[in-house]
Amino acid sequence: MSSEIENHDELNPSSNTPFSTVLDRHLSRRKIMQGGLGMACASMFAGFGLPGAIKHAMANTAKAPALTLGFESIAGAMTDGVVVPPGYTAQVLVPWGSALSSSGPQWSQTLELTPEFQANAMGMHHDGMYHFPLSTDKASSDFLLAINHEYIDQSALWSPKGGPTHQEEGARPADEVRTEINAHGVCVVRLSKNAEGHWHMVKDDAHNKRYTSATPMVLAGPVRGSEYVKTAWSPDGTRVRGTNNNCASGYTPWGTYLTCEENWPEVFINTGEMTDDQRRLGLRDDRGRYAWETATGGAQGEFERFNNTPSGDSALQDYRNEARGFGYVVEIDPYAPNSSAHKRTALGRFRHEGCWPGKVVEGEPLTFYTGHDARNEYIYKFVSKKRWRAQDANRPGERYDRHAIGDSYMNEGTLYVARFGSDGRGEWLALTPDSTIPGGGPKGERTLGDVFGDQAGIIINTCDASDLMGATPMDRPEWGTVDPGTGDVFMSLTNNSKRTAHGTEPEYTESDASAEALGVGYKTAPVNAANPRPDNEYGQVLRWREGASASSFTWEVFLFGSAADASPAVNRSGLTEANQFASPDGLWFDQRTDEGAGILWIETDNGIDKGRTNAVAEATNDQVLACIPGALGEGYTELKRFAVGPNACEITGIFATPDRTALFINIQHPGNWPVPGSNDATAIANGQVRPRAATVVIQKSDGGKIGV
Ligand code: FEO
Ligand code: CA
Ligand code: CA
Repeated sequence: MSSEIENHDELNPSSNTPFSTVLDRHLSRRKIMQGGLGMACASMFAGFGLPGAIKHAMANTAKAPALTLGFESIAGAMTDGVVVPPGYTAQVLVPWGSALSSSGPQWSQTLELTPEFQANAMGMHHDGMYHFPLSTDKASSDFLLAINHEYIDQSALWSPKGGPTHQEEGARPADEVRTEINAHGVCVVRLSKNAEGHWHMVKDDAHNKRYTSATPMVLAGPVRGSEYVKTAWSPDGTRVRGTNNNCASGYTPWGTYLTCEENWPEVFINTGEMTDDQRRLGLRDDRGRYAWETATGGAQGEFERFNNTPSGDSALQDYRNEARGFGYVVEIDPYAPNSSAHKRTALGRFRHEGCWPGKVVEGEPLTFYTGHDARNEYIYKFVSKKRWRAQDANRPGERYDRHAIGDSYMNEGTLYVARFGSDGRGEWLALTPDSTIPGGGPKGERTLGDVFGDQAGIIINTCDASDLMGATPMDRPEWGTVDPGTGDVFMSLTNNSKRTAHGTEPEYTESDASAEALGVGYKTAPVNAANPRPDNEYGQVLRWREGASASSFTWEVFLFGSAADASPAVNRSGLTEANQFASPDGLWFDQRTDEGAGILWIETDNGIDKGRTNAVAEATNDQVLACIPGALGEGYTELKRFAVGPNACEITGIFATPDRTALFINIQHPGNWPVPGSNDATAIANGQVRPRAATVVIQKSDGGKIGV
C-alpha cells in the first residue's frame, strides 16, 4: 500500500490503555533475545515468572523436525528488477491489463482503457491471492487463481492522455469513473504450466471472471436485511454493489476465496453530519478519493451512491447507508462464475486486512482470524457455531453450492476482539449483545446490547464495541497465517507512528482541536506488551496459541523488524545486514511436513518511494524473507532474505503450489517495471515504462522445491 491512498490514521478515540507497566518485562526479554542472536532459550517464559498454566502449555509444545533453508541470504537491492537467489528464475505473469479473453482489444503500452476493456482484464495493484485446484492430480500445474486488485495508480491508468480528468476539482467523466471502478475488485483466472515450466493465463476459460467495485453482491449474516443497510437500490437491505480496496486474502476449507475490504472508507463522502461509524472509520467530508461521486449520467444511483449525505426523506430514497455495505470479509466461489459474492458480515466491519482460517479439526468449530489495519486498531477472531464436518471439504471438479456451506459456517458464531496481557496471556473478548461492558457504557449501559441494540448494531459499530470492551490497540495489524500443524497463529504488525512511551492522554487538553474532533482519549497510544516500541517504524510479528477455552490464548512477540545497526532497544531480534527488514506485511506459513515444520514467508511494505524513510528503506527495496520458526517461545532458527522487488514496489500476496516447486508473489505499485514484451521479472527496463503490477512465479531452474 503506497502512501498514495494509504490512510491508517489514528481514528480510535477510545482510551484503551490496558497495560502501563510493561517496559521492565520488555527489557528482560531483550536480554534473552540478544543472548542467542534471536534464538531465545526455551526457558524464556520461565524468566518471566509466568503462571503454571503457560509453562504447561510450553512443555506440551512438540519438537519441530529439522528444516533448513537451502540458499544463501541475498544482498539488499535497489534496482528496477526482481532479484532472486542463484539457481532460481522469476517469471512475470498476468500483469494489470492482461485481457481475460482472446477476442477484443489486447493490452499495449499506449492503450487508452475503456470501462469495457477493464471489466474483462486484470485489474490494478495485485494484492492477496490464493489458488484453487481444478483436479487433484494437476493441483500444482493447472488451477484457478483468485487475486485482489487493491487500488489504482491514476497516472499509469491514464498515462496515454496525460492523467485523469478533473481529479482535483469538477465532475469526473462517467467513463473514466467506470474504468477506475472496474480496475478495482477481484479477478478469477485460470493458470496453467507447460512442459517447459512456463506459466500462462488460459484465456477464454469459462471460470475467468472479474468482480469489480460495481458487481452486485449478497449481504449475508447479522447485518443482512437490517435497517442499517437499506438503500434506494436495495430497499430490503440484502444486496450491495461492489467490493472495494481488497487487500489481503484468505480461503475456506470448503474451497472458496475470502477477499477483504481495507481502505474503502475514503471513496465515500458525507458532507453533512457524520454518523458515529462514519466518523470512526474515516469517511471523507468533502470529496472522495477519486471523486467518483461527482460523475453524472448513470442510472440507479451508479455514481450518487458514493455520496452518503442524506438527501431524501428516508434511507430508501438515497444512499446514506451505502458505505454500510462495505468493510467486510467477502466470500467468492471461484469454481462458480455465475454465483454472487457473499459479504460475511458476522466477521465484523472495519478496515479488514485479510482473513485466515485457524487449524481445522473435525467436530470442532472453525476459527477465522482478522485484523483492522489502522493505527491503534484491533485483532479479531470469529468462531463458528457449526462444528466442522470433513464432508464439507473442497471437492475440486464437483459442482455444488459452496456459498450454502459458507452460510452454514460463517453467518452464525461469535466475534471476539483480542486483549493482550503483559504476562504472556491473552483474552478474547466476545462482541455480543449480552457482553458486559467493563466499567459500563458511555451512558452507564451494562451490556453491548444496551448500547448497540442487536448483533447487527454491534457489527456496524465493531470498533466502538471493541473500544468499550477494552481491546488492546495494536501497531497496524496486517497479514496473519496459521501453522496448520500446531495451530499457532502469526500476525504482522507493520509499524505505528502514533505510539509513544506513555501515550499522550495526559497532555490532552480541551483546546486540542484534533483530539476534540475524535471525542475523548489519546492521540497516541501508550506502549503495551505486544506493541512495546514507541514510534515503531520497523514493525513486529506476533505469535499466539489458543488456550483451553475460546476466550484464552498465550502469546509472544515472535520477531522484531529493525535496521541491523539500530540500538539494542530497537533491534531486539538480533537482525544483521543479511536479514534486516521493516514493515512486515504479507505472511504465509508453508508447511513442509505433517509434524508442523515449515517456512514462514515474510513480505515487506516498507516503501522507499513516498513511504517510510528508515535505515532499512535506504538499504534495500521491499523484500521476501524466509524464516524457520522454532517452537513456541524459541524465536526463529533461520531468517534469510530470499527475494527483493523492483524500485518503489511493495511485495504482497503469497502461496506456493502444493508440490512446493513454484512460489507465487505479487509486485504492487512498481515504479518502472516490468519490461514490455519480456516475461523475465529480473529484467531491467531501458528508460521509463508504463508500470504494471503483476504476479511473479519463482521457481528453481532444476525444478526442485523452493527454499530448501
Ligand atoms: Fe492493504 Fe494494510 O495493506
Ligand atoms: Ca497489506
Ligand atoms: Ca502495508
